[in-house]
This record gives sequence, C-alpha cells and structure tokens, in this order.
Amino acid sequence: MLVSLKDAKEILLKGGNVIVPTETVYGLAGSINHIDAIQNIYSLKGRPKKNPLIVHVDSIERSLQLVKEVPNSFFLLTEAFWPGPLTLIVEAKKGIDPQITGGLATVAIRLPNHEVTRTLIKEVGPIAAPSANLSGKPSSTLLSHLEEDFGKDFPILEGPEPSCGLESTILGWIDGKWRMLRYGYIPKEAIEEILQESIDDSNLKISPGSQFKHYSPNAELFSEKERLSEADAFIGFSNRNYSIELPFYSLGRDTDPISLAQSLFAVFRRLDQDGRKRVWIDADLPSSGIFATILERISKAIAG
Ligand code: TXA
Ligand code: MG
Repeated sequence: MLVSLKDAKEILLKGGNVIVPTETVYGLAGSINHIDAIQNIYSLKGRPKKNPLIVHVDSIERSLQLVKEVPNSFFLLTEAFWPGPLTLIVEAKKGIDPQITGGLATVAIRLPNHEVTRTLIKEVGPIAAPSANLSGKPSSTLLSHLEEDFGKDFPILEGPEPSCGLESTILGWIDGKWRMLRYGYIPKEAIEEILQESIDDSNLKISPGSQFKHYSPNAELFSEKERLSEADAFIGFSNRNYSIELPFYSLGRDTDPISLAQSLFAVFRRLDQDGRKRVWIDADLPSSGIFATILERISKAIAG
C-alpha cells in the first residue's frame, strides 16, 4: 500500500516499519532509535539475527555521528560516490545498538541517491534497512515483488522505483585497507580509479550476509550447456540467437549491462511466478565492470 512522505514519517517516528525505494533496490526500513522496529525487520524478513543491517543517512556529516573514526580515504570515496550505491563499513561509535550491527564492532553506512527517501531520512533521522525481500529471495525491484513478500497492506513510501536493480557495493575498512565485501552496482574498477590502488576481493566471506542463502529463485538454475535437456525454460539475451525450443526469459541485450542489471531479479522472480522448476541460464558474459556483479548474482542464484 503506497503511503505519502508524511505518513511514512509518522509510522517511523512511532516505531513502525515502512518499505522505502532506493536507487538500488527497495529497503525495509526502521528508525535506528526504535529497537522494536529493528527487531521487527528481522522477523518480517525471516532474517538470521547475526546478519547486520545497513544504516542509511541523509548526509556525510550524519554518517560521521555514527562512527568512531574514519581514514581520509573515506572522504575520497564519499565525495566520489555519495549519494549513490556504495556502502562503507567502519568502526562503530559506542551506543549503536548491537541488533543493528549484529553485535559486530563495525557499522555499515550508505547515503542513498533517492530524493524522496533522503527527505524522509532527513526528517526522521537515520534508518536501518536491509533489502525488502524475504530472506533468501532475490531483492525487490518492483512494487509487485513487495506485495508478493509482504502482502498488499504493507506501507510503501511513494516515489520512483529503484533504477539500478542491484544492491550497493560494500567496502570494509579492515587492517588499514578498503576491501571488497560485496560486489554491487558500483564496479570495482571505478573504486580503484578513485583510490588509485587495487581492491582486494578475497574477503567476500567476511560479511555475515555472505554465509546465508541469497538471490535465489525456487527454480533450480544451471548454466552448463550439457544440462539443457533437463530444462523447462531458459534465460538469455535478446540479441543472441538460440535454437532452443523452450520458454524464453530475456534479460535484454548483452551489450547493455545497465538494463541487464535492472531486469535480473525481476526475471528470477518471474520464473517462480510461472512455476518453472529447472532453468538453464546463459552466463557467458564478460567479467569486468557491472558484468562482474551480474555474474556474481547469477552464480549465487545457481548455488542456491
Ligand atoms: O543497495 C543496498 O545495499 C540495499 C538498499 C536497501 O540499501 N540494502 C541491502 O541490504 O542490500 P542487505 O541487508 O540486504 O545487505 C547488506 C549486507 C549483508 O550481507 C550484511 O551481512 C552486510 O551488508 N553487512 C551489514 N553490516 C555489516 C558489518 N558491520 N560488517 C560486515 N557486513 C555487514
Ligand atoms: Mg539483501
């Protein structure tokens, strides 16, 4: 159920939960000052308690109130990519509730590039918001996904739908270096260019979220050509010629990674709506830029 900015504000200030659009995917929000709202996020999603949440702020100054100290390169990154799909994990200030951080000493922060949601945050203060999907399912990029997971009556802040379609990139400040903790919408190469150093991505397992099942449709997904005969549908690209006589789910043109990113989760969800059981996916893509993130999400969906 779409609600106005004014109503969303009232719900959050009273300690309730609202789904908010961001530029990446929808988020299931609660005010960081209402621990009931934070606890509810976990139960609404069926999310393991040890999987911490991202705190969304409306300014760089606000982010600094939540953290102990940050390296100078924090500002290089925030100036280059905020507002936008980059989450930074640094040491948390004392007093941030352990239910937000999963009991870790660090906190994940991002400044979303979404006007309406930023205005909401400005008015109610920082909000914790994981992706608005049942735990294990693909993130929600369309209003219909939210209804599927949370029902028709759940309040959703009215505003433009997510445009990226993939979650934020997560960097963690660990032992004096920024390390990639999750591939996301901002490509690794873009971060390396700003920092003028290469980013270590051998720590992807550090994020609690990486231990849990993710991004998966219920349908079994596989990419081996030899297994095509088992499939009841397939996913591919609109500009490639396939001689496969199965229902076809198109991700768009393989030359347009931005629109591939936008359609990926919606296609995963359509497989389940259509009751597909075994689906072949064409995963023959380049491994740089946003393609790297798309490939990572596909391989997680295959593993799930
Ligand atoms: O684009 C996004 O980032 C979306 C929108 C709504 O902002 N949010 C999102 O949140 O994807 P979520 O909860 O689905 O994924 C956040 C990931 C999880 O894997 C979690 O384990 C990790 O961030 N994370 C959060 N705090 C952390 C911390 N202190 N240390 C390590 N990993 C952390
Ligand atoms: Mg998520």
